[in-house]
Amino acid sequence: MSNFLKDSLKNAPPYIPGEQLTGVIKLNTNESPYSPSPKAIAAIEKETNKLMRYPQVDANDTRKALARRLNIKPENVFVGNGSDEVLRLCFQAYLEFGSKAAWSTPTYSLYEILAGFAGAKIIDVRRRDDFTVDIEALAKAGADLTIIASPNSPTGTLTPLNEIDELASKVKLLLVDEAYADFAGITASKLIDKRKNLIVARSLSKSYSLAGLRVGFAVADNSIIDDFMLLKDSYNVSRIANAAAEAALDDTAYFETIRTRILSTRRRLEEGLSKRGWKVFESGANFVFAVPPDRDGGAVYKRLLEKKILVRWFGNDPRTAVGVRITVGTDEEISRLLEVIGE
Ligand SMILES: Cc1ncc(COP(=O)(O)O)c(C=O)c1O
Repeated sequence: MSNFLKDSLKNAPPYIPGEQLTGVIKLNTNESPYSPSPKAIAAIEKETNKLMRYPQVDANDTRKALARRLNIKPENVFVGNGSDEVLRLCFQAYLEFGSKAAWSTPTYSLYEILAGFAGAKIIDVRRRDDFTVDIEALAKAGADLTIIASPNSPTGTLTPLNEIDELASKVKLLLVDEAYADFAGITASKLIDKRKNLIVARSLSKSYSLAGLRVGFAVADNSIIDDFMLLKDSYNVSRIANAAAEAALDDTAYFETIRTRILSTRRRLEEGLSKRGWKVFESGANFVFAVPPDRDGGAVYKRLLEKKILVRWFGNDPRTAVGVRITVGTDEEISRLLEVIGE
């Protein structure tokens, strides 16, 4: 760090992403194992000779495609540089130094980092032993911004819509992080007409196989969308991203094929682990959190890596250190994982 960094950031911890190793079976960052829609790839190729021009300032083509897909109005959609941008904008827009932000761990570690940048106070209403959220306790925290990831990472836990609705009715502002919602087939976006204090953040990274493109979006009341428009980078979604996202969103057949395949492989993974004596937590996502019989997640992580299989170990929390998070890869990748685990 330089000496110029402002004091409030001097002790801020950095976000530590999953490792981006090559030459391994990569099951650590919840990417799709399948390539993007061929229509998205064609759209990228077609866009390349227009790159001397700036992109649409509001990513309007993607906005409209999302509105068509979700059956909502474009003015209720904001398109971001990954859903991480949506999360960042929420902290920037709604929290001042000393404001309160609440969520339930274990969950996505970026929230804590963003709270550090904003100088916000964190209230952690810990998840129960089965990783479900105590909605009432979370509401009682009285935060300026309440966040719930559903399905949650790293646990896969889905929070039912009626609980999200109840939470929204009790808190000041609720952000539902739905990066994995397409795999659960359940979304809180339909509640935005009823709940004006609800922001739903979603992603094309996982279910549309576009993690490298960086496209996420928010669904919310149009007054909240206006806040994001005010704060975002001038051209936050590139021409390539806008073109590919629109094409991918319109290719519903490809989306469904990939989604169905991932869900069926997830079932095989869950059954395979259970048969080998692992405890597998119910997942609504494209990954599972699972605990080996000896409850030593770190040892499993290391053993798998020796065999060139990379999963994610969250060793910093005793509740997650006992297991590992495994992304659903292809059928062959999961067969290999199960074979190694069986050895
Ligand atoms: C819970 C959760 N939210 C948000 C994200 C960020 O996704 P994106 O690629 O859209 O920025 C992730 C990525 O792993 C995630 O796990």
